[in-house]
Amino acid sequence: MIGASGQIGSDLVLELRKRFGADNIIASDIREPMKEVLEGGPYVELNALNKSDIEKVVDDYKITEVYHLAAILSGNAEKNPAKAWEINMNSLFIILDIAKEKNLDKIFWPSSIAVFGPGTKKQNTPQNDFMDPNTVYGISKLAGERWCEYYHQKYDVDIRSVRYPGLISYKTEAGGGTTDYAVEIFYEAVKNNKYECFLSEETALPMMYMDDAIDATITLMETDADKIKVRSSYNLAGISFNPMQLAEEVKKQNPDFEITYNPDFRQAIAESWPQSIDDSVLVEHLAWKPKYNISAMTEVMYREIKKKLG
Ligand code: SER
Repeated sequence: MIGASGQIGSDLVLELRKRFGADNIIASDIREPMKEVLEGGPYVELNALNKSDIEKVVDDYKITEVYHLAAILSGNAEKNPAKAWEINMNSLFIILDIAKEKNLDKIFWPSSIAVFGPGTKKQNTPQNDFMDPNTVYGISKLAGERWCEYYHQKYDVDIRSVRYPGLISYKTEAGGGTTDYAVEIFYEAVKNNKYECFLSEETALPMMYMDDAIDATITLMETDADKIKVRSSYNLAGISFNPMQLAEEVKKQNPDFEITYNPDFRQAIAESWPQSIDDSVLVEHLAWKPKYNISAMTEVMYREIKKKLG
């Protein structure tokens, strides 16, 4: 796995080790991962832009599948477009080429709701809608999706992908995304009973609790190749809510909690994205359903972050 220290990688590597044996999952990242990942199985330091180092790890450990999760998220990408483009695109090409050259079994690469843009249908956005992303991150994800399908069609690379909604988890903090408020809110509610949100109160976005995202990802990777008909990336819906609705749920856990709103540059990014997603194509192809609604997610998040912060 490339990007095992990030928000998705931290949870995904632990679940993969649990299911397939710790020694069979090699975690890698440019940053040191959390203790549980570092001590629970093999870890190598890797730069996602260094092809020869990645090839060496693939050979040394006889890697057959790669989860390539390294990316610069939407908010951070706007601050440094050239660097975000380089990291997001070149690292994908490196993995696609290694998969082609070394005949790897399967690749997972995440796309995002950010592939959609202002011209996309906002509610229940279908699998195939008009796509005009206007963020660096969204452009890189849409271009990446096209390349994934290309490598599948031309070189028979078994690449699989989902368009994640905003992901909510407690093990590692989110880093530089537009949906990060839905994670930050819990830390602030536990520490200070209040949170200043960088999106306005009615900005609805599709979100998902991490356990569901991990489950969908592993289900996708375990499904027979001939059932995976979408080789760009599958819509994944989760739950849709706005900051005000999430704040109401947090208040059920902490009655003293108060939220204020001070939208920044990420407001425009959020407004360009869908408010809810139609993932019926994925549901049909994978026979998969999420388990968490907003209340169940809020309950676990609040409890676990309270435990974590002592
Ligand atoms: N959660 C991501 C972000 O906000 C979207 O994929 O950048």
